[in-house]
Amino acid sequence: MKSTRPFYPTPVITIDGPTASGKGTVAALVAAQLGFHLLDSGALYRLAALASVRYAIAPDDAESLAKLIDDLHITFREGLAQLDGVDVSNEIRAEEVGNRASMIAAHPAVRTALVARQRAFRKLPGLVADGRDMGTVIFPDAVLKVFLTASVEARAARRHKQLIQKGFSANMDDLLRDLRERDARDSNRAAAPLKPAADAQLLDTSALSVDQAVEQVVQWYQESSQLRPAR
Ligand code: DC
Repeated sequence: MKSTRPFYPTPVITIDGPTASGKGTVAALVAAQLGFHLLDSGALYRLAALASVRYAIAPDDAESLAKLIDDLHITFREGLAQLDGVDVSNEIRAEEVGNRASMIAAHPAVRTALVARQRAFRKLPGLVADGRDMGTVIFPDAVLKVFLTASVEARAARRHKQLIQKGFSANMDDLLRDLRERDARDSNRAAAPLKPAADAQLLDTSALSVDQAVEQVVQWYQESSQLRPAR
C-alpha cells in the first residue's frame, strides 16, 4: 500500500560565516543538543589543501586539484579527520593549511569536486552544516540558515586562544592581517563568495557567549519546526 504521508526532506541547519566567527563551536554544540549529524565543510577544504601539499600540486592548478579531490580517501570518525587512514585533525588546523584552503577554494572546479561529499552528510535525523556557502549553494533548502558575524578583533582573539591551546605559536598582529586577507579573498571570489543567504538569520557573536549563541540557534530551529508538520 502506498504511504499517504507527505515526504519532508531531512532537516538541515546551515551556519555560515567568516573565519573564526565561532561557527565551528556553535555548530558542534547545536548538533549535539539536537542529536544531529555535523558537517565541518572547512575541514574538507583543509584536507584537500593538506593533500595538495603532500602530492605537490600547485594551488593554482585547478584541474589537478579537482582530480586529486575525486580520489582522496577522507574519513571523519568520532570527531577525527583522517587522510589516507591517518589522523590529521591537528595538522589541518594550522594557519598555513587554512590559508592554502582559502586559496584553492576560489577555484570553481575545486568547489564542484566537493559538492557531493558535502551533501552525503545529510542523514536522518538531521544535519548541522558549517562553512561559507552551506545556505547559499550546498543546502539551499535548509530549514534554518544562520550567518554568524563577529568583529575582526574578537575573531583574532578567539583564533589566538585556539592556536595556543593546540600548541601552535600565534601573534595577534599577524592574525589580524591574515584574517583580513582571508575575509577579502573568501568574500570577493566569483565562485560561491562568503555572503549571507537572502533568507538567513544574522547573529553577531562579538558580545555573546558560546552558550548564548547556541541557545539562539536552537530557539530559531524550534520556532521553524513549529511551522512545519511533524514527520
Ligand atoms: O572554516 P575554515 O576556516 O576551516 O575554512 C578554511 C577555508 O576553506 C576558508 O578560508 C575558505 C574555505 N571554505 C570555503 O570556501 N567554503 C566552505 N564551505 C568552507 C571553507
